[in-house]
Amino acid sequence: DVIDVRSLGSHGVFTYDPGFMATGSCESAITYIDGDAGVLLHRGYPIAQLAEHSDYLETCYLLLYGELPNAEQKAEFIKTVKNHTMVSESMQKFLEGFRNDAHPMAIMVGLVSALSAFYQDHMDINDPEHREIAAFRLISKMPTLASMCYKYSKGQPTMYPRNDLSYAENFLYMMFATPCEEYKVNPVFANAMDKIFVLHADHEQNASTSTVRLAGSSGANPFACISAGITTLWGPAHGGANEAVLTMLEEIGDVSRIDEFIEKAKDKNDPFRLMGFGHRVYKNFDPRAKVMRETCDQVLAELGQANDPLLKIAKRLEQIALEDPYFVERKLYPNVDFYSGIIMKAIGIPTSMFTVIFAMSRTIGWISHWNEMISSPYKIGRPRQLYVGETERDFPTEK
Ligand code: ACO
Repeated sequence: DVIDVRSLGSHGVFTYDPGFMATGSCESAITYIDGDAGVLLHRGYPIAQLAEHSDYLETCYLLLYGELPNAEQKAEFIKTVKNHTMVSESMQKFLEGFRNDAHPMAIMVGLVSALSAFYQDHMDINDPEHREIAAFRLISKMPTLASMCYKYSKGQPTMYPRNDLSYAENFLYMMFATPCEEYKVNPVFANAMDKIFVLHADHEQNASTSTVRLAGSSGANPFACISAGITTLWGPAHGGANEAVLTMLEEIGDVSRIDEFIEKAKDKNDPFRLMGFGHRVYKNFDPRAKVMRETCDQVLAELGQANDPLLKIAKRLEQIALEDPYFVERKLYPNVDFYSGIIMKAIGIPTSMFTVIFAMSRTIGWISHWNEMISSPYKIGRPRQLYVGETERDFPTEK
């Protein structure tokens, strides 16, 4: 049931809903989730079908424009994305101002926000063509910026984008190639990367997407809005979870220690939570987690690491969560981040880059929501509060 409270505002009545457990903030035609049934649809298409039959850039087109492209539209879209992969050389100089041991998410927030400085003057958010170009710039430049952060942390030269490669191949190339030797992208890894991008492309009004909409509702430019989304994604309860999963698996270290950690997770006096389990919306198996689990098996088989100790721990945790009454009663299933971290580690991506990759993938979701909001009438987002502070009192004037 939906109660539309718009008419109540002028009578001084408002809803109090910390955590937005039951508050819809907008109408949207982009993504549908039925958390109880474990359903996720983008523009009506089930996520598992998109992961199997589509690819990331086609999914980007779908999210942005509402329909799948025909062959010509797809080719044109890819061509335009490739036209925008370069960033200004000044961005490299800006990058070099950061400490090289800074967290790459800290740098990404800065770099993406700095894009406004390059395109702000030409940006009229009320012009659909300007919004479209901003979307292209962001989709295209995110892998370039992300790999620049990684190379900088390694003390290696930035690799320029290669537009003859696919989106996922180009990202892996910019991450792992060096100017001194030939680098061939592993097709199994590129396929896994593309799946990670597709599965993280959008997830309706999560914390980061809501932040992008809220920032955008003030009329802020899209690069600043996406930067706000990146900041929000960074937290361990949101995009930071895949990094936290890996840290947790490494801390557990061996299957013999799993029970100890399970008990910690159940102990209400212990703040420890089993990372990669539970979801605010899914109270069933996350449909993205199913695809990620298969992809994870493929990558580890390619590497001959099917018996990887971390994977063994992960599989055992998954089994316990599906059987233990604590997890069953609370419907705490493994989420997408549970497997994506293991895949990325196997590919050779350091944990500090995991959330950056999530941000890259989610950029299309953020920009699609921002564009959807600006395309129809909207108000500046302005939540109310329940004031619990002091009532009015006089400032003490006597010493
Ligand atoms: N381990 C142990 N217990 C848990 C976990 C967990 N991972 N998640 C929830 N619970 C318990 C809570 O303690 C609570 O128990 P109680 O009812 O006895 O008090 C119950 O399950 C409900 O938990 P809430 O915190 O109310 O659920 P909420 O919907 O607010 O939280 C969240 C969802 C933040 C994802 C939570 O499950 C969590 O912290 N998970 C671990 C972090 C994680 O994996 N985040 C990734 C989310 S997916 C994404 O961003 C793509």
